[in-house]
Amino acid sequence: MAGASEVQWSSRMAFILAAVGSAIGLGNIWRFPYLAGENGGAAFIALYVFFVFAIGLPVLIAELTIGRRGGKSPIGSVVAVAKESNVSERWGWVGALGTFGGGLGLLSFYTVIAGWVMAYIIKAASGMFTNIDAAATSEMMNAYEASAGTMTTWHLIFTALTVFIVAKGIKGGLEKAVTYLMPVLFVIVIALVFYAMAAGDFAAAVEFLFTPDFSKIDGAVTLNALGQAFFSLSVTVGTMLAYGAYLPKDISIHRSATIIAAADTGVALIAGLAIFPFVFAYGLAPDSGPSLIFQTLPIAFGQMPGGTIIGTLFFTLLTIAAVTSSISLLEPAVSFLEERLNMNRWRASIFAGGAAFIVGMLTVFSSNDWKDVLPLAFMGIETIDGSPAHWAKIIDFTVSNIVMPVGGLLIAVYVGWFVKRDVMKDELGLPEGGIFEIWHVLIKFFCPAALIIVLLYTFM
Ligand code: PHE
Repeated sequence: MAGASEVQWSSRMAFILAAVGSAIGLGNIWRFPYLAGENGGAAFIALYVFFVFAIGLPVLIAELTIGRRGGKSPIGSVVAVAKESNVSERWGWVGALGTFGGGLGLLSFYTVIAGWVMAYIIKAASGMFTNIDAAATSEMMNAYEASAGTMTTWHLIFTALTVFIVAKGIKGGLEKAVTYLMPVLFVIVIALVFYAMAAGDFAAAVEFLFTPDFSKIDGAVTLNALGQAFFSLSVTVGTMLAYGAYLPKDISIHRSATIIAAADTGVALIAGLAIFPFVFAYGLAPDSGPSLIFQTLPIAFGQMPGGTIIGTLFFTLLTIAAVTSSISLLEPAVSFLEERLNMNRWRASIFAGGAAFIVGMLTVFSSNDWKDVLPLAFMGIETIDGSPAHWAKIIDFTVSNIVMPVGGLLIAVYVGWFVKRDVMKDELGLPEGGIFEIWHVLIKFFCPAALIIVLLYTFM
């Protein structure tokens, strides 16, 4: 298989679709709504949107730029640009933290949830949602979560799918599939919003999502909003460094990044509008946690005309959206193993995917056999943000709320203070002043300061 820089996206559109495909996934439709619900709604959302554009977008631009400049694996690119700027090659560790701690850590539970989504394709298609009520959806969900065997099977199927696609190389067909399928998912989510207007408690949802009560903001809410901004934009875990390496020189990075951020945030907000009207109409708890969509959407599909078909299509497309994200989580590790250890692509994919699968078993067991196992209890930590601190919660929290913010901080410091300003300006293809200046001030001063404040505020 060719080295990273020899393979390129076929066009600007293809790149944007792949990057948007990475950004849009379970983060928007599964994670965003449940975090918004757990963190009190609108104030969390306002913070999240602010973080996306003030911190996430500058970091996204930085990562794509370093990736394209270096043209290698995430770690290789960070090292290459460090060399060009005459600073320590040890900065490569930032890429390593993202690739292995962030990317594979995140992949480990991403595949568990995506497997759950896949399982629901079959439930939807077999008409199991028809006229289902809130009690019955909870029962269906509890039964799924109680079975370690079923969860493991779907976790395995989804991981295998991801490994297979990554092993075949990034361009193989997926680009085209995404071009047609992502817009269809978007249309279904919009259709759900319209159905929610008619059949759900739309007014309550709008109020919950868009009328912020800023007194609800505390350290935990702030950190969750920041972690979600990074999670949803696919930054700080090597992904955008890897995708930047495949980016042709004539594509405008700052424009593409802005499109990615806007599309990603838009889909999350629309998903919120599709889900919360049903949450309120059926008296479900907004803070139900990770099971929120599995509890809510089947009721909606079960009642709407054509719900069996629409529900089946929805879970199928959400699976595809998850695949275009999971491959981008595996890609950084694979490109590194290829580049440094000379592994072939198949081996590297199976090895890295296998590692993530094994760690993912901790998340599987957290729903059933090890539900009551609290591994940090010996340190006195039994809950995190009010939920039991079992393995699943610990892994998600560590990756999203520690590794990602720390990774973002390191990248901002590296790019803002160590990489030569002219290198970034040249690669971004921007003149001095204007947009470049705004971006540079954000990445050099604002992002590091804000990230340090958020981390200190939460952990001190
Ligand atoms: N952004 C993806 C989502 O929202 C998840 C992801 C995170 C993918 C980091 C790649 C890197 O589902």
